[in-house]
Amino acid sequence: MKLDAHWMPFTANKAFKQSPILMESSSGMRWQTEEGQSFLDMTAGLWCTNLGHSRQKVAEAMYESAKKLSYVPSFNLGHRASFELAERLVAHSPGDINHVFFTNSGSEAIDTALKIAMAYHSAKGQSGRKIFIARERAYHGVNIGGTSVGGIIHNSRHFDRWGSVDHLPHTHDLANNAFSRGLPETGVEKASALKDLVALHGAENIAAVVVEPIAGAGGVLPPPVGYLKELRRICDEHDILLIFDEVVTGFGRTGSFTASIEFDVIPDMYTSAKGLTSGAVPMGATFCKDFIYDTVVGSAEGIELWHGYTYSAHPIACAAANACLDIYEEESLFTRVNSGIGAYFENAIHSLSDLPQVVDIRNYGLLGAIEFAPQSEGLPLGSRLFKKSMEQGLMVRGAGDSIILSPPLIIEEQHVDEFVDKLRAAARDIF
Ligand SMILES: Cc1ncc(COP(=O)(O)O)c(C=O)c1O
Repeated sequence: MKLDAHWMPFTANKAFKQSPILMESSSGMRWQTEEGQSFLDMTAGLWCTNLGHSRQKVAEAMYESAKKLSYVPSFNLGHRASFELAERLVAHSPGDINHVFFTNSGSEAIDTALKIAMAYHSAKGQSGRKIFIARERAYHGVNIGGTSVGGIIHNSRHFDRWGSVDHLPHTHDLANNAFSRGLPETGVEKASALKDLVALHGAENIAAVVVEPIAGAGGVLPPPVGYLKELRRICDEHDILLIFDEVVTGFGRTGSFTASIEFDVIPDMYTSAKGLTSGAVPMGATFCKDFIYDTVVGSAEGIELWHGYTYSAHPIACAAANACLDIYEEESLFTRVNSGIGAYFENAIHSLSDLPQVVDIRNYGLLGAIEFAPQSEGLPLGSRLFKKSMEQGLMVRGAGDSIILSPPLIIEEQHVDEFVDKLRAAARDIF
């Protein structure tokens, strides 16, 4: 088969095409290749297949929808499934987050949130508020807004940042918090950097602060105890909107529907994608509180927000998301982490601290990272371990010096044990 035509995303194209791995099927916790090799998925694909792979109920719902109503624009037209889905999602959301705007990805959800923030301030007569404060090591997708607020240099070094953006320091602190279980105890004072940025830029110029409650692609960095509450307090003091990017942390990953519920800090907006359809079909969403919706929608006659996508609230995506919600609810998956599997996963990954060159292990819910010492030559150990794990039939994510874990929420103890055995075998090949 010729592989050249498909320019693959976030992939070393030349290397992949020399020794490609082509998946043919998937079910539960595993993928199978065309040659019949099986891979244990400790990444939920890209943090998305929370319900496990190829759920039949979701596939059937999509098929039924496709047969009956394959497409309808959501500009000035509607269909029942999107309104039902929206009602169900806001019922799960915290506080008075009662509105949701549908997109097709996490990247679009973030760019939508940035635009809604500016539309909100403009509707209030404060159109000067255009600066966004984000954070180092953040990942907010790859559209131009998300790239601009992102804090991972690889993702932005070749592109100009759009608009005015400044960054808070990241919260990773090996000296004080290595091998934390759950939230690190120290580091709340890092939130006070927001006060300095407000003083520097002027609150009257700042639209919003945007952070992942737990930074994901930046290395799984749970926030220090009290840190998110302090961001909330400073934002409130200055009428700055607080946006949580919950594209990774939503849909049961932390042990609650959202990390904002888990950490008891309610943002003004939050974004979602991935677990929303458990990866079965692209869909994202931007949620907001009543006061934002009421201000923007109340500010104009006719179209109030000049924004939307051809495939916003696509019928097949809505059918998939409704079917996924049924499964999350029937199987109590939003809180499954707290049933014992979260603690089992935590103990298992911390048991790997005896591997050579480990400098940190951290976790929250069904998110975890194992960090190795930086290497002066050659590939970082996280990338090498990722490759060696593949040879063992194990999928972990390599992120520089770390490997990152975010298994499907249906994971059982025997899968965790299998992961530990296979990772040790992969590590033996390296050290
Ligand atoms: C926190 C966060 N935000 C946004 C995105 C972008 O989502 P997508 O790849 O669906 O555009 C991601 C993807 O990994 C993410 O982790």
